[in-house]
Order: sequence, then C-alpha cells, then structure tokens
Amino acid sequence: MPFYEESFLEQVREQNDIVDVIGSYVGLKKKGADYECCCPFHQEKTPSFKVSPSRGIYKCFGCQTAGNVITFVQKYENVGFVEAVQILAGRAGIALPEVKYSAADSEKEKKRERFFQIYSDATVYFYKYLRCPEGQNGMDYCKERELTPEMMKKFGLGFAPVNGHHVINYLKSKGYTGKELVECGLASSRDNGDLSCKFWNRLIFPIQNSRDKVIGFGGRIIGDGEPKYLNSQESLIFLKSNNLYAFNYARKSRSGYFILCEGYMDVISLHKAGFDSAVASLGTAFTQGQARILEKAGHNLYLCFDSDSAGVKAVRAAERICRNMKLKTKAINLKPYKDPDEFIKNLGGEEFQKRIDEAENAFLYVVADLYNNTDMEDPDESSYFKNFIIEELVDFDDEMTRLSYMESISKRFKIPMDYLDSSVKKLAMAKADLKPVFVPEKLDRGRDENKGKKSEQLLISYMINDRRVYNAIKDYVSKDDFTVGPYKEIYDRLFADLEEGHVEESKYISLFEDVDEQNDIGQLFTSSLADVETRDDLSKAVKDILISVKSNAYDDFCKNAGNDDDMIMETIKRKKDLESIKKVQINL
Ligand code: UTP
Ligand code: MN
Repeated sequence: MPFYEESFLEQVREQNDIVDVIGSYVGLKKKGADYECCCPFHQEKTPSFKVSPSRGIYKCFGCQTAGNVITFVQKYENVGFVEAVQILAGRAGIALPEVKYSAADSEKEKKRERFFQIYSDATVYFYKYLRCPEGQNGMDYCKERELTPEMMKKFGLGFAPVNGHHVINYLKSKGYTGKELVECGLASSRDNGDLSCKFWNRLIFPIQNSRDKVIGFGGRIIGDGEPKYLNSQESLIFLKSNNLYAFNYARKSRSGYFILCEGYMDVISLHKAGFDSAVASLGTAFTQGQARILEKAGHNLYLCFDSDSAGVKAVRAAERICRNMKLKTKAINLKPYKDPDEFIKNLGGEEFQKRIDEAENAFLYVVADLYNNTDMEDPDESSYFKNFIIEELVDFDDEMTRLSYMESISKRFKIPMDYLDSSVKKLAMAKADLKPVFVPEKLDRGRDENKGKKSEQLLISYMINDRRVYNAIKDYVSKDDFTVGPYKEIYDRLFADLEEGHVEESKYISLFEDVDEQNDIGQLFTSSLADVETRDDLSKAVKDILISVKSNAYDDFCKNAGNDDDMIMETIKRKKDLESIKKVQINL
C-alpha cells in the first residue's frame, strides 16, 4: 500500500473544499458561517450535523462523530484512509505522487495489474457471450432463476462457453501469456499441454473487491453436475478470507446493517428485493478477516443462513468469530423456507423485512436451537446442554456482556444464575493454564526489562516513520501493551497525532522533565530502523516486534496480577488476545 507525505495530504485537504465535498453527498443548508444537515451517520429528524468551512471540519452534535474532509469520505464511502485520499485527489485533479517500491515489489505490482486486466477482459467476454445467440442456454437458466436484466447487469453476470478454449484463445489474442492465465487461476493445462478455461458451461458471477475490480469468479453449473459452484482459487489479487461477495455495493448501503448469506444467488435475490447490504463469503466459511471488514464499517450483522442444520452450524461459527468484536450479530429465521432466495420468491421483501425486525441475538438463537433439540428430562442430554452453554460463556471476553448473557440464559432456560457464574469461573481457571501469580524475582530481570523496552521503542518508531505500518497495526495495539512509563503516558496523544498524520518531536520531549525520560522519548524519533528489502520482510519484522511487545506486556501483567476472579478473567482475555495476534496477517 502506498504511503503519502504530509505535504501531499495537505494539498488534498486544501483543494477539496469541505462544503463542496460533503455537499456532494448530502444536502447542506447554510446557517450563519457554517452549514448543517441531518447527520448521515445516524438516524435523526432535526439537523445536528454541522460543517465549518473555516476550520475544515464537521461535527455531529447528536452522535459526536467528527473529522475533516478525508475522514468524511472514509466514513461515508466506507473506505480506508489511503483510498479516501485517492478519491479526493482524483476529485480535485491532483496527480498521485509516484509511489516508490523496491524492485521485487514493483514486479509484483505489475503482475497484479496484469491479473486485474485479465479478469476484467474475461468478465467482458463472458458478459457478452451470455447475451449473444450462443449463450441462449445461460439466458434460459437466468430466466428460470427469475434473474432480472437489471440485477444481471448490476452483478455483471456472464456465461462461460461449453468450449473452454474460446475465452483462452481470446485472452491470448489480447497478449496475455499462457503462464499468466494459469497463474491468475483462470486456465489449467491439459495433459497434452494446451490450455483450457477452468470455467465452462457455467453462469459466471464476477467477484469484485471493494474498489469494484474483478478479482475472481464464482461459476454455477448450468443444469446438474459437480461441483455445483466452482470458485476461483486464491491468487495474487484474490484472497478469499479478506473479500466478500457484493461488499463493493453493500458498503455504500444506507441501511445501517449488513446481511450475511450463504451464496451468490441469495445475495442477488436480496438486492433485487431492495436489501442492498447483503453480502456472502466466497465458497468458504465466514472468516475473521471478513468480520473485520464489516466491523470497520461500524454496522451490525444479520446472519441469514439456510434454515437447515448446516445453517445453524454456520450461525454458530460466525457468531463465535464476531462475539468479541464490535460487530453484533443477530440470526434471521427463514422457516419454513430453505434460503433467502426461496423466502423472497415466496413471501416477498416486506415479509423479509419483518424477519429482520424479529431477528434474535445470534448466540441466544444458537442456544435456543440446541434447547429445542434437547430432552431436558434426560440427565445426559440436559448436562450436555448446560456444559455447552458454560463452554461458550467462558469465551466472552467482556465481563458485562458475559453477565448479561448469563442472566438472560438463566431466566429463559431456567438454569440458576449462581450455578452458571461459578461454573464459568471454574472452567475459565481450568482452561487458562495461568502462569503462577507469584514469580520469584528472576536474575536476568534487568535484561528482560531492556528487551521489552527496546521492542516498545521500535514499535512506536516504526509507526512514526512509516504510515503504512501505523495503518496496518493500529487496530491491534492498545495502551495496555506498553510497560515503559513515558510510552504509556504519551500513548493517547501519540495515537491521536498519528491518526492525524502529524507527530511533532519537540512537543513530546518537552512533556518530561526527567532526563532519562526525555531520552526514552527522544529514542522514538532517532532509532535507526533496520533496512528491510521487501514489504514482505517489513511485514514480518513488524509482526515480530508486535508479538514481542504484547508478550512482554502479558508477562508484566501476570507478574503484577492479583488472584481474584476478575483478574483471572482479565488474564485469560489477554492471553487470548496474544494468541490471536500470532495468527494475524500483516500485509504492508
Ligand atoms: P448452496 O448450495 O446453498 O447454493 O450453496 P444456492 O445458492 O442455494 O444454490 P442454487 O440456488 O442451487 O444455485 C451456497 C453457497 O456455497 C458455495 C457457493 O458460494 C454457494 O453460493 N458453494 C456451494 C460452493 O462453493 N460450491 C458448491 O459446490 C456448492
Ligand atoms: Mn442455498
């Protein structure tokens, strides 16, 4: 990802008048020196959203959201910082600065561009083929599935010819090499060495990334055959765990929530009925990366899976992924219909809206489903049911949330609250494999401390030095991760400045009187960072430092933690946090 100099950002801010920009999205009314309207980020009837052209900022006095022209675009368009800057630069006709990549990276970048182009050309080919006389079979199938021309256009549906050589020959004639076509996942080579398209005789659903670029295909067989749906393999441009079908549309929806369903057809049916925030994962289970994408957009999530037992399993899995995130999940009940496509065809959008309104908290939905399948009179079954609940409850990080769940479960399923509470704590302790709380003073403690300090220093230095690093890891870092006094002290201010993109050294040093502390701060701005060759190496280095900082903070916490229940829960939470960081992918 590119990273921009402050001077360039300033130019972007200056040449995009905040009133013009916000006014192009919402109707602003002049009021004195300022402008106002109803807040686009929450529901309201009287305007409390103010824009101040002189200060270049906006603020909603209802929901407290505030920011500058870049943050507005980020929020409204649901894009990242870099993308918002690019949108605004484009709007003002400012050329993007040349981004410097290492040789290895620029090769990769070129290849990515070629792959995007291949998928774009293939999409057009399939799109046209569906609409020509040879594509009649595909068109008949679309009619049978009640796909409208508008939806077919919106989702760019196409048809891959029965003969898999056609599109490959076409792409070769456009200058792509066989090697490229194989590498991007579109072609496979036969025994005799000639190339054929992996997608043939299938209705093609182009999969787009959040910037509308096609990065892969889903293909449904016309008629019967295996597999029913074929999905592109992952490639340099297609990472399944970080993309969602139709997210490029859903992110612009004004509905205030997302609907997650199982498949391409479900998504299209929902959009057709006006539910334009429906998305689906891509032939795989819903992933943490996908959840993060939705979480960032700040909406809650309605799970809308098939109403069979596989669907309930999918609700379970998705709810587990989201439960410790800001993303709140509810489960939509589609009974007696199999999936949203079938539901809408039978009962229509209004009835579906009712199901949204009635949707139940996803965890309680899962528990209720198990309850309905349990004979509570049977001791084995009922203890299985209780154990299931306890096992799950242990996994909730937030104390308040866990308590609220316990209360509603206790009431609804008639399990005594005391029993739940004590069982959860017992299990948590058994599971935690906690470090002994009293650690004898280690001989090499001095060295340990230095190591921790060094990592914290490096981590902050990297973030100050390179905006890409900051953007990639900011979600994973918290104040608790810092054990060095001065670093903890400047944390809030520093992160606010980093968010703004402007960190002034002198300001920080002058906060401290003690020379040692001043030194600690000075180090942040002068540390020499190892020269890393490629972005992959940088990603790896940053991740190592992040893990080192977090494990150090964890050890530090354990040394000082007391022995009461709350501390134990907190320790478990931190430990889980640490484990999950190890699995995170950092891509710079
Ligand atoms: P379903 O089999 O429920 O799809 O799989 P559907 O949309 O109801 O299928 P139709 O209505 O018969 O066309 C749901 C999703 O699971 C993935 C696809 O993403 C599909 O949309 N899937 C399913 C596969 O990836 N491969 C398969 O073989 C089947
Ligand atoms: Mn289905």
